[in-house]
Amino acid sequence: MINFLKVSFFSLLMVGGFWGFSNFGIPQIKPAPPPVEEKLDLGAMTMDQFIALGGKIYNGKGTCTLCHNAMGRAPMLDKIGTVAPERMKDARYKGTAKSVEEYLHESLVKPSAFVVSGFGKSGTNDTESPMPDVTGGGIGLNEAELAAVIAYLQDSGGAEVTVAIPAMEAPGAEAPAAAEAAPLKTPEEVIAKFTCGACHKIAGQEGALGPDLTKIGKTKNKEYLRQALLDPEAVIAKGFTGGMMPPTYGEQMKAKELEMLVNYLAGLK
Ligand code: HEC
Ligand code: HEC
Repeated sequence: MINFLKVSFFSLLMVGGFWGFSNFGIPQIKPAPPPVEEKLDLGAMTMDQFIALGGKIYNGKGTCTLCHNAMGRAPMLDKIGTVAPERMKDARYKGTAKSVEEYLHESLVKPSAFVVSGFGKSGTNDTESPMPDVTGGGIGLNEAELAAVIAYLQDSGGAEVTVAIPAMEAPGAEAPAAAEAAPLKTPEEVIAKFTCGACHKIAGQEGALGPDLTKIGKTKNKEYLRQALLDPEAVIAKGFTGGMMPPTYGEQMKAKELEMLVNYLAGLK
């Protein structure tokens, strides 16, 4: 028993440690262990390192690959350098950006300034974006992190990298693994950490890619809800398609967090 506990504690630590860097959309075959990142001095970074940091945020904390992936739920961004100038000239463009850099910044904090056609929230005729403001809610990128992501998007999207490296403490320096390993205390924290609200209407967030969960406990019991989290492809909610809900929660959530979440959902009536 003692041994079992030791092993489980160790795996919890590992899961906690990997979390910040995990990549939702793509099945994780071999997650690279996160580099232990102490507060980095951004001023000492090269642009290449800053771009790499942006890539890490894009694939990890930013949760961008939840939607920007090969499933086609969001546009690919690999040609954004040539696409952005066309967006700004489009008759439907409602924003104020004058450069690729400004367009990218605006896309991240005011996604509805331009909604790529065919990708709007259903029923809004491409006037409202289902993408969340990535500085708010569960994602919560700060300005330095935004700058790193923009540098990464410019670099990978064929644009000139124009962002300046901010002269502040490093973004993306995650809390030390030990702090991460403590189980979360409330279902709201679990929902925020796993960014359910990016896709679902839940806990005050307005995600629109998956079913509204604000009354899910009325029609679904705990067994169903647990399965929906652990094995999302087992049952596909009516009116939605599969392949979207991250299949990795079973590995990422601690048992206590999962049960807390299931109880919370079952109680939403
Ligand atoms: C919940 C799903 C979702 C998440 C998470 C998400 N996006 Fe998006 N994103 C979309 C959708 C859908 C669109 C297309 C609709 C629109 O134009 O707003 C889009 C549009 C964009 C655009 C504009 C593309 C264009 O061709 O004009 C950029 C840039 C972008 N996202 C970057 C990001 C980055 C960077 C992140 C992570 C920090 C992110 N997105 C997270 C769904 C998402
Ligand atoms: C990238 C978008 C995305 C994220 C993030 C996401 N989901 Fe989902 N979820 C979906 C989609 C799409 C469906 C409907 C298709 C299906 O059933 O798999 C769904 C289905 C569900 C269902 C079943 C609903 C029903 O009526 O049958 C539940 C429960 C659920 N999600 C809970 C969650 C919780 C809790 C989280 C966070 C821990 C979460 N989801 C994160 C997209 C997402």
